[in-house]
Formats: sequence, C-alpha cells, structure tokens
Amino acid sequence: MEFTQEQLQAIESRNENLLVSAAAGSGKTAVLVERIIRRVLDEESPVDIDRFLVMTFTRAAAEQMKEKILKAIEDERSKNPTDKHLIKQAALVHNARITTIHGFCLDVIRNHFQEIGLDPDFRVADEGECRLLKADVIEKVIEKAYEEGSDDFINMVECLSAGKSDSGLEGILDKMYEFSMSDPEPEKWLDRCVKAYTDEGKEERVWVDVFLGQAGMLLADAHDKAARAQEITREPDGPYMYEPAASNDLELIEALKECRGYDELRGSLAGAEFVRLKNKPKDGPYVDEDLKGKFMALRESVKDVVKELKKDFSLPLEEQDRRIGACLGVVRELTRLTGCIINEYSALKRDKNIVDFADIEHLCIRILGADDGITAAEYRDYFEEIYVDEYQDSNLVQE
Ligand SMILES: Nc1ncnc2c1ncn2[C@@H]1O[C@H](COP(=O)(O)OP(=O)(O)O)[C@@H](O)[C@H]1O
Ligand SMILES: [Mg+2]
Repeated sequence: MEFTQEQLQAIESRNENLLVSAAAGSGKTAVLVERIIRRVLDEESPVDIDRFLVMTFTRAAAEQMKEKILKAIEDERSKNPTDKHLIKQAALVHNARITTIHGFCLDVIRNHFQEIGLDPDFRVADEGECRLLKADVIEKVIEKAYEEGSDDFINMVECLSAGKSDSGLEGILDKMYEFSMSDPEPEKWLDRCVKAYTDEGKEERVWVDVFLGQAGMLLADAHDKAARAQEITREPDGPYMYEPAASNDLELIEALKECRGYDELRGSLAGAEFVRLKNKPKDGPYVDEDLKGKFMALRESVKDVVKELKKDFSLPLEEQDRRIGACLGVVRELTRLTGCIINEYSALKRDKNIVDFADIEHLCIRILGADDGITAAEYRDYFEEIYVDEYQDSNLVQE
C-alpha cells in the first residue's frame, strides 16, 4: 500500500502526542497499524510489541489488528529467519495489549483487585442482565418515592408527566443515571446539575454562562461553515452569483459572535435576517452543480444554527430566569432520585458480586487514580506508547 504524505507524517512522527482526525474509511486505523509495525521492526531502536497499549472499539478490531501485525512480523521473519528480535516479537504478539478499553480496564482490575478491596471472584454481568436489574431498581425507587409522597416529588411528577404515564419518568431517570455514570465522578456530576440552575455565591446567573457558552460554540461552528461557503462561491465554476449573500452571511455570524451578554445577543438575533439568493443570469458563466449543492448545504446549516439560537434566546432575561428558577425544584428531586438509584443499584451488584461495564471503568480509575500513584506509575513506565482507535466514541470516564 502506498501511503499519502499526510499518512506518512502520522506514521513517522516520534516523541509527541498525536491526534489523527479524519473521515471514516480514510485510513486512520491503517496508519496506526503501520506506525506500530514500523516501531517494532525499527532497525535502530526496535520496541517490543507488548510495550504498546492499543485500545480498539471492538474485540473484532483488536483481533484484526493483532493479525495484521503478526503478518508483518512473519513477512519480515521469512526474510531473516534467525533474527532473535523477530522470533521474540512473533511470540509476544499473542500477549500484546491490543484490546478494547473494557478489556484493558478488566485486566487492571484483575491484577489489582486487592488495592480496592474487591472480591476477586467477581463476575462481569452482560448488558441484558444489567438492564433488567437496573430497570427493577428504578421502578422500586419510584415506587418508594410515591409512598413517601413528598411535596418535591409530587411537584416534579406534575411538572414532568403532564398527562403521560410514569414511563416518562423512568426514561428520564435512566438517562440521568447513564449520564452521571459517564462522568469520572457521578456524584459530582449530579451536584453540578443542580448548580447549573442556582446562583449560590455567584453574582451573575449561572445558566446565562451555560447559554452563552453553548451559543459561542454553535456560532464558532457556523462561522467555519459560512467562511467555507464563501470560499466555494469564489472557486472556479463555483456559484459566483451567491457571493454577495455568502459575504452577508459571514458578516451576520461575525456580528453575532461579537455580542457580549444575554441581552445584546438576544437583540442581535432578533434582527438577524438572511438575504435571498440571487439567481444565476441566463447567459452567465457555467456553474458546477456539485459546488452549488455544497454551498446550499453549508448555508442551510448556518441558517439552522441561527434559527435554533433565536428560539433559545427568545425570552427576555428576567422571564427566562423565572422559568429556570421554577425548574430548580424538579432538577433537585431528579438528582436526589438518581442518587438513590446509584446507591441501590451498587448495593444490589455488590450482593450478587457482579460488575457492569461502567463499574469496570470506575474501578479501573480508582486503581490508576490512587493517591500514591504507584500502580499508575507502573503502567506509565511499562508502556512505550498508548494508542486509542475511535477516540470520538470515548466518554469522560474513558478519557
Ligand atoms: N494510502 C492508502 N492507499 C490505499 N488504501 C488505503 C490507504 N490508506 C488506507 N487504505 C485502505 O482503506 C481502507 C479503510 O482504511 P481504515 O484504516 O480502516 O480507515 P479508518 O480507520 O480511517 O476508518 C482499508 O481497507 C485500508 O487498507
Ligand atoms: Mg478505523
């Protein structure tokens, strides 16, 4: 296979952190495998294959990767049958740490269970089993809350259900549980949920920061797209007749990006209008339909962002603040119930001596994040390099 210049850069770079971001099927995994092979077969400073930690998204991907690496080693060995390094590598490949993130975490836990007081006879429960157990816990927690019938709970149910059955509440709690579990510290995540709505000890309203932060990200993305759309109008055979509209769009987004504070942005959004596109003159120069289509798609997504923001910023600050204040009680109660679910579900799993995928991650973090740092240092010193394929599918815990 002939690698492109860009691929070669990623393959050959050394001694630096590397993030390779490219479309599906563009050859990221191929680059990763080639990079490892070259380091293992390097003549000057070869690295043993088991000194790499490679995390893949699925077990099948891990197996495929091992096979490819083994094949490269075998190919090399057929040229140098007596090379000691190659013989060793062929033997090591089978124990190479090429695995899913859960496979790695589980390995850490099995080797260090005593450090966190885990019963070594634990079993990994499969997803189906966990789903059933969790659904049971959620149901029981809701039942108990009904029995207790606190004002906060009744109020929340009224707010959320609005005529629907409880399955809505179960779904919300399930999501809250899953979200909190995808944070390294679930309890802190729940605290932050409440804090996002409260002003405690803060001069400005916290939710305003959240709104403005979100708007800032959306506008930055819209800005990139508008700039790209403008470029397209200037390309050879590009839809030149849209150039004035494209410049207008870009100015509009730039002006929105300049806004400081809720009221200013709200005002600018209210006045933000997109100009109409001019038609191509009948006898004007040729325009490529593909480029025209690309321009249209970009412009649509820019418009969508502005439309979305107009909705988000439709209410005056005071009114929005009042509504968000009213939500606070609901959020408090939801986080309280999620906390109950976390506790009861953990207790149930402890009784059965099972762990689920989220536990595997959290337990691994407890081992590697221990204050003394001894175990973490062992892994750090052992591995030459760490690779993660399909990084975008990781959550904060895996990070
Ligand atoms: N430079 C290249 N020349 C030819 N084929 C390539 C090249 N780079 C990658 N491929 C092939 O393209 C396909 C997709 O590559 P892959 O690494 O799986 O992509 P990604 O991981 O980015 O989704 C694979 O079959 C791979 O062998
Ligand atoms: Mg890939």
